[in-house]
Amino acid sequence: MDNSWIVKQSAFKEADIGKYESLFSLGNGNLGLRGNLEERESTYRKGTYINGFYETEPIQYGEWAYGYPEENQKIIPLPEGKLFEFYAEGKQFSTADGTDHSRILNMKEGHMIRTFKWKVRNGLVITVSITRMVSFVVPSMAVQILRFKFDGNINSLRVVSSLETQKQSQDPLHKDPRAGSLSGADSLKKIKSFRDGLMDVCGYKTKRSNLVLAAGMDHLLLSGEYTAAEYRQKEGGSSFVFDFTDPEEDIVLVKFLSYRQGDNSDTAIALCRADLASAGEQGVDYLKMEQIRYLRKFWEKSDVKLPRNEELQKVLRLNLFHLVQSSGKNGKTSVAAKGLSGDGYDGHYFWDSEIYVVPFFQFTSPEIARSLLLYRYSILDKARERAQELSHKGALFPWRTINGREASAYFPAGTAQYHINADIAYSINRYLESTDDLDFLVTAGFEILVETARFWYDLGNFIPSKNGAFCIHEVTGPDEYSALVNNNFYTNIMAKDNFQAAVKWYDWLKKNDYSSFMDITKSLKIQKDERAHWETAAQKMYLPFNEEYGIFPQDDSFLDRPVWDIKNTPSDKFPLLLHFHPLTIYRFQVLKQADVVMALFLQWNKISFEKKKRSFDYYEKITTGDSSLSAAIQGVIALELGYVQKGYEYFLKTLTMDYDDVNGNVKDGIHTASMGGSWILVVYGFAGMRVGDNLLHFSPHLPLEIEQISFRIQYKKMQLEITLEQDFITFLLLSGKSLNLSVNKSIIELFRGEKSVMAISK
Ligand code: BGC
Repeated sequence: MDNSWIVKQSAFKEADIGKYESLFSLGNGNLGLRGNLEERESTYRKGTYINGFYETEPIQYGEWAYGYPEENQKIIPLPEGKLFEFYAEGKQFSTADGTDHSRILNMKEGHMIRTFKWKVRNGLVITVSITRMVSFVVPSMAVQILRFKFDGNINSLRVVSSLETQKQSQDPLHKDPRAGSLSGADSLKKIKSFRDGLMDVCGYKTKRSNLVLAAGMDHLLLSGEYTAAEYRQKEGGSSFVFDFTDPEEDIVLVKFLSYRQGDNSDTAIALCRADLASAGEQGVDYLKMEQIRYLRKFWEKSDVKLPRNEELQKVLRLNLFHLVQSSGKNGKTSVAAKGLSGDGYDGHYFWDSEIYVVPFFQFTSPEIARSLLLYRYSILDKARERAQELSHKGALFPWRTINGREASAYFPAGTAQYHINADIAYSINRYLESTDDLDFLVTAGFEILVETARFWYDLGNFIPSKNGAFCIHEVTGPDEYSALVNNNFYTNIMAKDNFQAAVKWYDWLKKNDYSSFMDITKSLKIQKDERAHWETAAQKMYLPFNEEYGIFPQDDSFLDRPVWDIKNTPSDKFPLLLHFHPLTIYRFQVLKQADVVMALFLQWNKISFEKKKRSFDYYEKITTGDSSLSAAIQGVIALELGYVQKGYEYFLKTLTMDYDDVNGNVKDGIHTASMGGSWILVVYGFAGMRVGDNLLHFSPHLPLEIEQISFRIQYKKMQLEITLEQDFITFLLLSGKSLNLSVNKSIIELFRGEKSVMAISK
């Protein structure tokens, strides 16, 4: 097997436990299995999750104020079905007894294989291999295949297979606000169970959020014969104890797991039973084949090929693999900041989904992008309620959430990040542009554009002292090291875009689909003057520019603050958020992450090269990159400006954020945004792709370190392959009749099957 398809851990080190639990998590967007070992010991944090399955918890405030969210939502670590105990001749295996330990994540076939040897005594060595897989085709199912090979005669082997809730909470001294903290055992109440042969299914209800889930296991012996299989119930779950006496052949035991939600425990249990029964009938090979088939299609559309660079190739694939593993695909869930790999950030969804993850899917698997955006539609009513609660019109999406309610307890870096509304609107608008998915426009997209535009119109004001410009006050932009400012440049320019998108699609519907237009206008009670309001607010949007520096100030007061001395801040004081009070940080010019620079990227065609250059040069020096979201965007703009070497360094940083644990917190879960960011950096950075005026634009900048890189994108139902080399960019239209592109500002026409090679000017 080509090494660029696998990630291998060859030795087991205590210090790396948490990191590999996250990196080796397996998921399908619905079910996620963190990569904790089968043993109960040797773990940083066990985890099995269902995307969107959460418990609520009252938020305790020392001082309460009106409009503070009252409840947090937390993704629940579900009953663990990965757990096993092994006993050979009465002696229990513990991780330290193993030698030749390895784990191999296979991204082509979608599974992980762990192997180790266990020297039980002189003359007896057992080789254990365990394959773990979370199915992409049956989203509620996972499977484990255990194989025991004996070198020497063995009298007895006992395998205990369990499914049980975990009582684990975060170390109270662990003060990182980015880590998760819920204990599964304290959140789930067992209500009912069902057992049949080697199958056991249990129904649970959450104590506060009243959600119901059933978790079930079933077993199948493919080789060997057990002398006894005993069922045992214990606190929090159950086990099957398999005893093998004098085994003569290899033992191969399959364990199927199913996790299902339902309106009540009977339905959830019935669904689990049906899953387990059909998996047993179809057999494990069927699930494996379907997995390969699913991934073959996925990689065909989504792979980014970096020939001759195996190491980077592998990491890039790892990132894309985690994106498809993490993203909800049912229109009711999104992608948590940590995917389904850990409970960091409590499993919340942020703007990360729309700005960092949706672009990848929009251009490779548009149906997944659609379902991520549909999730926002599914919570639109709650966003409307939240806007009302804060005395505003329209809808305000929560800064962080699972169920649609705001779950951010610290409003300066939470609710005040109103830009989430514009980020969602932006993402919808871009999705519509590249897919022409008018059904989505009519059934969901337009409604969100209207409600978010309404919100902005209500939030901002035409301020006489600013010549009647439309200003937005008391907001926090993407950079969380400044808070509650007036006229954050990013927020204003994105709100302007939000208004323009609402106007654009309003006019489009009126002209092209009058009956839907009338239906929606009626149901949303769009008043006659609203469209004009949005247009005027967009025209008059306040977008300050500082002539002296030639840059866009991040906000009204930003340039009046002293500059934080990043160079002389000891490296152990980063991230600043863990070492300084927020007020200390807010008082300085210092950035956690790209803010104006993010605007330069997203609003690429509204800002001149010169202004971009000056702004980037200015902000780069004061950006700490404490947020994993920063590097990708800094990199894209560096490349656009021709700082190719710098762009490459940012690429390496965002690419390896998790693989090399750059920020030191991958143990709490992967960073889906920076993983999406690595794709963004290839496509928008190296290839310089932009979309605008109904056209794809390319303006490549390939660092010398990369000989060749190629990827595919879907655009308006056509598929295009792009290959970058040092001196050339090659386009190949794989489906669709013909397509016009702009390459370094000249238009070329592509025809299906014909290659177009363009020289890259340096
Ligand atoms: C960043 C946010 C991001 C969140 C979740 C924070 O550290 O500042 O922009 O949405 O992490 O990834």
